[in-house]
This record gives sequence, C-alpha cells and structure tokens, in this order.
Amino acid sequence: MTEWGYRISARHRLSLLTLFPVLIVLALVVFLPPNGEEGSDWMQFLGRFHPLIVHFPIALFLLVPALELASRNSRFFYLRLTAPFVLHLATLGAALAVLLGWLLARSGGYSGPLVTQHMWAGISLAIVCWVCWMLRARADEQVWGRIYGAVLAVGVGLVIWTGYRGGQLSQGEDHLTEHMPALLRRGLGLPAVRTTATPADPNSFYGARVEPIFTARCVTCHGPDKHKANLRLDSYGLLMRGGKDGLVILPGNPQGSDLFRRVTLPPDHDDFMPKENKQPLSAEQVKLIELWISNGASATLPLSAIKEVPIQAAPPPAPADVTFAQADPEAVAQSRAALAATVAQIQKQFPNILDYESRGSADLHLNPSALGTKFGDSELAALAPVAGHITEADFSRTAITDRSLPVIAAMKRLRVLQLRNTKISDVTLQGLGGLDQLESLSVFGTPVTAASLQAVAGLPKLKHLYAGETAIPSGVTVPPSLTGKLVM
Ligand code: HEC
Repeated sequence: MTEWGYRISARHRLSLLTLFPVLIVLALVVFLPPNGEEGSDWMQFLGRFHPLIVHFPIALFLLVPALELASRNSRFFYLRLTAPFVLHLATLGAALAVLLGWLLARSGGYSGPLVTQHMWAGISLAIVCWVCWMLRARADEQVWGRIYGAVLAVGVGLVIWTGYRGGQLSQGEDHLTEHMPALLRRGLGLPAVRTTATPADPNSFYGARVEPIFTARCVTCHGPDKHKANLRLDSYGLLMRGGKDGLVILPGNPQGSDLFRRVTLPPDHDDFMPKENKQPLSAEQVKLIELWISNGASATLPLSAIKEVPIQAAPPPAPADVTFAQADPEAVAQSRAALAATVAQIQKQFPNILDYESRGSADLHLNPSALGTKFGDSELAALAPVAGHITEADFSRTAITDRSLPVIAAMKRLRVLQLRNTKISDVTLQGLGGLDQLESLSVFGTPVTAASLQAVAGLPKLKHLYAGETAIPSGVTVPPSLTGKLVM
C-alpha cells in the first residue's frame, strides 16, 4: 500500500470508529424511546450528569466556526489545522451527551413532545458533528467547502434549538420570556401579561373552590418557582395548557383527565399526587375537582352554577390547624414536657425522623423512610418510650421486621401506618388488633398474605388498606367490614 493509501484507510478507520457510538445511541433512541417510566437508580444516577456534560460538545462545536473564521486572517492561519481535531472531539462529546440524556429521559420518567424534540435535535447534532468532520477533510475544494460551511451553519442552528428545548425541559416552557421586560415584549409582539399567575375570578367555581386546593397542595412543585413535569397549577391558563405529557384536564371527562387520575390513585402509586409522602387530597377536595371537570372545567362558570357540592364545600382546614385552634397551650406544654427530653434525644440520634404534628400538639409524626435500610428493629426499639404519642408512622423501605411488632403495637394512637416495601409479614398484621384509631394502613410490596385480612378487618376505624404487590390475590373475597377499603 502506498503511504497515501495507508493514510486514507487509517482515517477511514478512525471515522468509522467515531461513528459507531453515534449509531449506538441512535439505535437506543429509536428502539427504546423514553416511555415516561422511572428506571433503575444506576440509570438515574448517570443520567443526572447530562446537563453537566452537554456543555462540552456545545462549546467545542461552536468553537469550530470561530476557528474557521479566524484562520482566514493570515496571522491565525495555523488555526486551520485544529478544526478537524475539535470536530472529532465534539462528535464524541455529543454522542456521550446524547447517551446520558437518553439515560436521564428513560430513567427519570420523562416523556412527551418536548423531550422527544430535544432528544432528536441532540442526536441530529451528533450526526451533524460527524458529517462536518468528514466534509472538513475535503473543504479545500470549493464546492465541498461551501457544503461544509452550510452544514456547519445548520449545526449552529441545531445547537441553539436543542439548548432552548433543553432549557424549557428543565426550567419551564416560558423560561426565556417569563421575566422579559414589557418594552421588549411589546417589540417582539408578545402578549403584554406574562404567563404567570393571573388571579382567578373569586365568584367563579374555579376561583372559589378549585384553585385554592391547588394553591394549598400543589403549587410548591407546580408553581412559579418549580415546574415539575413542566406543569403549573397557579393559574387557569397554565393549568389548561397542561404538562410535559400534554393536557391534564379534559373538560367534561374527569376519568380521562390525568390530573384527576393522579389525585385519586392510591398514595403508594408512583403517579400519585401530591407527590412525596404528602397527604392525599380529602374526599371533598377530590369531589370538587371532579364536579368542576365534569361541568366543563370552565374559568368563569359561577360558583352557584354547580349544585351538588359536597356538604363540606370549603376545603376543610388542615388537621394541624384544628389541633392548634383547639389546643389549650398549657395542656400542650404539660404533655410535651413529659416527653420533651426523650424526643430531643431521639431527634439528636436520628435527625429529621421525628417531629410534633403541629405547634399546638404533643402528638408525634415518625418518618424514618428516608433512612432506608439504615433504620431497622434495633433503631425502632429506641423509640419505644414515645410510642404512645405517635399518630403517624411511615416505615416505607426501612429494614424493620416482625420483631418490631411490640413497639408498633404500642403506638396505640396511630392513625396512619405505612409499612410498604418492608419485610413485615402476617405476624405483625395479626398483632395490630389494638390500634383502634388506625385509619390508613399500607402493606404494599410486603410478603403479607390473605390470612391477615381477617385480623385487619377488626380495626374499627380503618378506611383504606393498601395491599398492592403482596401475596394477596387481587380478586380475593374480603371480610364484609373491609368491603371497598382494600386497594390493590
Ligand atoms: C413534592 C412535589 C409535588 C407536589 C406537591 C405535587 N406534584 Fe405533581 N408532579 C411532581 C413531579 C416530580 C411530577 C413528574 C413525575 C411524574 O410524572 O410522576 C409531577 C407530575 C404531575 C402531573 C403530570 C403532568 C404531566 O404532564 O406529566 C400532574 C397532572 C400533577 N403532577 C398534578 C399534581 C397535583 C394536582 C398536585 C396537588 C394535588 C401535585 N401534582 C402536587 C411533583 C409534585
């Protein structure tokens, strides 16, 4: 082989080797597109590096036109030699960024048109980088030089478009215009009001009954500061625009509305809203939302137009407020004094797992779920002295076992008990007969069997038993007192 021929084939080999990762990510994107489901921790962990890594190919690619332009000046002629190298790096960087982006989208539960567009723009950009790199080798010939310039310009456009779509994904669809000064808005012909919250008409059903629910329970995550799932619930217009998966309200069709579906799911469900161990909406709040959607989900329909409003029409005050209002401060101080030292000690030993239900109450909420398997039977044993004051306990995903039964059974005032994804079995459930205040019990994802149903049926105040992904078959016949309370 001549020296020249040898050099050609080495170059070819390198270019094919570089194209290979690009084709792999292309195949992933085509055959395993993000499906809106959350994936494994590993995928999520790696995917989170996408926003960091993505800046490298962007900077490298944008450097190329700068190098090419500068090298036209004879003083910077030598810069011509660097462009192919930079393009090669940009191609590899873009392939890596797309791979991480795919991991993020696939594992982080993203889907919808915005993600799809961003993803395709990204993968196209990786291909454009490679094509530019190939064309650059012949750019000395006039025609090829022109084509190279054109493709480079397309690439720059793609960088801007992809970045803009990515910004919309992470910061909300109107992230560039949200804080735009009025003068500029007018110059660009944008509507004068920003798409931030405009107060709803207080005499409309929406303004009086529905929006207050969102304000109280949802806007921390779906409001001006955070747009989870690209959804905002702080104004009618934004609510009706929908989220990353499209519309969340279908007027007239509550069952088909994603928002309604999510607030009526069992709290154990991944899609349940409000997310993250938040209390479900009350039955009245759910009913108000349902009525509003089935009556057309209008912003202006007057309050009086919907008659079948539940008895407790105004959203009921949060339980914490009730205790506060009714509490006699002295009585609270007294009952707290008895356990204050123990509580303080436990709080020191396990920060953030134990707290008073509210300022006006000596009742305790226990939530060690964030500690995961670091919290087990021996840790729970340390809480035995305050067991009688705990009204809500969430042991989800901790390492507790049936050996903790005596401590849990001593939590006589428990109203809510979450045991999901623990090793708790029938032994524990059959020992909880004394919890006569218990209203909600979750054994989702535990080895519990139908043999426990009889024992649970004896709990006088129980309203919900969440038992999905257990050994209880879904069509099981339940004891009469559990009818309608078992959620699979
Ligand atoms: C603690 C934060 C948090 C709170 C509070 C919260 N959400 Fe969400 N919401 C999320 C996250 C994160 C997602 C995206 C993940 C998912 O789809 O499950 C989401 C997604 C959604 C979606 C899907 C949007 C789409 O297009 O995919 C709807 C609808 C929704 N939330 C409604 C609500 C409602 C109604 C409330 C109040 C009752 C609420 N959320 C409260 C965090 C929250």
